[in-house]
Amino acid sequence: MSDLDRLLLGRRLVVCVGPGGVGKTTVAAALALRAAQLGRRTLVLTIDPARRLASALGLAELGDAERLVPVAEHGGRAPLHAAMLESGSAYDALIGRIADDPEHRARILGNRVYQIMSRAFGTSHAYVAMERLHDAAASGAYDLIVLDTPPTRNALDILDAPGRLLAFLDERIVGWLLREAPEGLRARLLARGGAAARRLLALLAGEALVRDLSDFLELFVALRPGFLARAEAVQALLREPTTAFALVTTPLADNLADAAYLRDGLAARGIDVAALVFNRAHVPLGDHPWSWAASERPLADDLAALAPADADETSAFTALLERLDLLRRGVAADNQRGRRAIVAFAAAAVTGCLKVQAPILDREPQELRGLARLAAILADPRATVAAPR
Ligand SMILES: Nc1ncnc2c1ncn2[C@@H]1O[C@H](COP(=O)(O)OP(=O)(O)O)[C@@H](O)[C@H]1O
Ligand SMILES: [Mg+2]
Repeated sequence: MSDLDRLLLGRRLVVCVGPGGVGKTTVAAALALRAAQLGRRTLVLTIDPARRLASALGLAELGDAERLVPVAEHGGRAPLHAAMLESGSAYDALIGRIADDPEHRARILGNRVYQIMSRAFGTSHAYVAMERLHDAAASGAYDLIVLDTPPTRNALDILDAPGRLLAFLDERIVGWLLREAPEGLRARLLARGGAAARRLLALLAGEALVRDLSDFLELFVALRPGFLARAEAVQALLREPTTAFALVTTPLADNLADAAYLRDGLAARGIDVAALVFNRAHVPLGDHPWSWAASERPLADDLAALAPADADETSAFTALLERLDLLRRGVAADNQRGRRAIVAFAAAAVTGCLKVQAPILDREPQELRGLARLAAILADPRATVAAPR
């Protein structure tokens, strides 16, 4: 059994972080499929999957419902569910969950300050992701949850978002506004003093908005204990020993720089990366185990069949082969550069951190079969990045 399989069997939450476009969503789905193959009831919470991947996961329609993915014919031994993390509707659903009184709920949803704030938090997806994660983990329906994170450089938002919302609901503004306000919130808002409130008011112009703001605060303060409890639970969950952060990157210098930034940011928040996944690490050439042509006839056979009988054509043929060889050597040199960069990056990882790599596949892994292929590669002991010599 590979270390990656052991990780998928031993953890309850895997959080995939990494720079944009490196394959986080794809790797999250592949890891989730692998876990289902290992017999774990798994949920993958995904963000912005490529169109074909979304339909392969049954997520072509909008909405944040959990869908069953048909994995039995791809070796799945336990059910795999997938759900999309969407900011807008998910945020409203969140309010629905925590405010059970319909009138209370309607007042929040219709409140302009709420609408502005939910959009501001919603764009980062981070707070929604955390709330969704909290619910899925608390449901007890899954052995493992694989969480995809937003395509932003600062995926650290997922760690900071709950705290930021709490800070907003906390002493800064709410506390000042609500502390014995005999003449009413509105009067107090308009009175002198309270630097934070004045700064907020500078952003929100107009009497109507000030009225909405005071309404909003009154409504939200009632929800604060619920937010607090959930945010604390999520922060604790992210730091459980059964949680693993998987940092996904490619060997490209820009991606590695972003990945290092994320790794350091996580470390500063007390979280070590448990797995480094180098995706699209190289182009498989020649007799590489995952060479695209591995199942095909050897190249030499093709060449023999192609070789012209006519002596005149032979030199043109040779010239073509030379050009192809030049191309091959260029790719090999790129692979070599990538390999060195990966080994150097991997060497800086904490002890016990898993390091695996997967090649660029000839077909983008956007269907279940492709995901299964990527999963099999990642879980293969040959995918482990060797230590520098
Ligand atoms: N190993 C791979 N080989 C080939 N294509 C890949 C591989 N991994 C991911 N891709 C493709 O790269 C693109 C970006 O992947 P995606 O998972 O959406 O990245 P991210 O979530 O990091 O933005 C997608 O089109 C995906 O199909
Ligand atoms: Mg993505």
